[in-house]
Amino acid sequence: MTGYGDTQTALIAPHGGRLVNRLSLTGDDEAVARRERALAASRVHLSQVALSDLELIATGVVSPLEGFMTRDVYRAVLETMHLPDGLPWTIPITLPAPPEVASRLRVGDDVALADGQGRVVGLLELTDIFAYDREEEARKVYGTLDAAHPGVGRLLAQAQESVYLGGAAWMIAPPQPAFPAITLTPAQTRAEFVARGWRQIVAFQTRNPIHRAHEYLQKCALEVVDGLLLHPLVGETKSDDVPAAVRIASYQAVLARYYPAERVLLAAFPAAMRYAGPREAVFHALCRKNYGCTHFIVGRDHAGVGSYYGTYDAQRIFHEFDPVLIGITPLMFEHAFYCRECGQIVTAKTCPHGAGSWLHLSGTQVRAKLAAGEMLPPEFTRPEVSAILMQAMARS
Ligand code: ADX
Repeated sequence: MTGYGDTQTALIAPHGGRLVNRLSLTGDDEAVARRERALAASRVHLSQVALSDLELIATGVVSPLEGFMTRDVYRAVLETMHLPDGLPWTIPITLPAPPEVASRLRVGDDVALADGQGRVVGLLELTDIFAYDREEEARKVYGTLDAAHPGVGRLLAQAQESVYLGGAAWMIAPPQPAFPAITLTPAQTRAEFVARGWRQIVAFQTRNPIHRAHEYLQKCALEVVDGLLLHPLVGETKSDDVPAAVRIASYQAVLARYYPAERVLLAAFPAAMRYAGPREAVFHALCRKNYGCTHFIVGRDHAGVGSYYGTYDAQRIFHEFDPVLIGITPLMFEHAFYCRECGQIVTAKTCPHGAGSWLHLSGTQVRAKLAAGEMLPPEFTRPEVSAILMQAMARS
């Protein structure tokens, strides 16, 4: 079911019609039994990415997935960008394991999922063990085999974990949230939207501190809907991305001064970044549909890195899907920047002046200015954000 199926809340239906809940945290008999099963089972250690994927599964962020992908689901996603039942899905959610660990397991077994400290946090009901081809996955998901691509590099580094374990999963101990004040599950954002009376909600994904072009996109979008979900990603990123704490601090600073509190909700998106450009843009949109959003901003080079993807590839990919099945509406924006003649943020679509009037600063120029203790131009970044970035740079 897609569209506005839930008459009780009038919010958009989750992907596949039902918000998945695989949290097994309460003290009821079933939860106690699952914990005992996990503690008695063989252990598999989760990477940071797999741990965040378990959280996405358990809280329904990746509904309709109820666990780590089995072979048929994985193959369908790689080859068709859809689940076997025909729903759009673009990113594999998989659990890699070393073959010597897998050889101790049998289909039908319980598997304990342990975090980096060896704490058992989840239970996997194992239904499939299968080999996969890292290069094929790199080519299909990322469009490149270049190990310098951070997503491909991470995948190729899984040389020892040459099999995937598939099956339904439960989270039996939640991770400590890094940002508790802004940690909201899809069920919680949905409840908040209902409480605020919002029906049309636009989500903004980001892995960067906020700059003026971001603000322009967000506010243009907010003009035509009821509310804005600012949803910075806080899962694993590549090491040279600005740390999540700095990203969040930049948002808190601008929200306090430049945004109407009653129309904006800031929440953390716990996923790891894949840098898969177009495929990740669709994934990001579907996750935000599960959070209850009706619209999703896709600007230039969404979830891109380096020059692996064309500037608007992440927008074009949406045309390959049935919009009814995607359900959430992508709001596409051209590259935005400040124009000195217009005296505002513009795009080539809305501004008649040439590049000579446009303010562009590269990442290298931005870092050089901040390292020299110089504020960024206020047309590029709010002064409150420049100050936060400068402090962060001084600390690093
Ligand atoms: S992302 O990897 O999370 O997509 P980023 O935080 O840079 O990266 O961007 C967040 C969103 O804003 C994405 O949809 C991206 O396409 C868009 N975006 C970022 N900067 C611009 C810009 N100057 N003009 C248009 N869109 C932009």
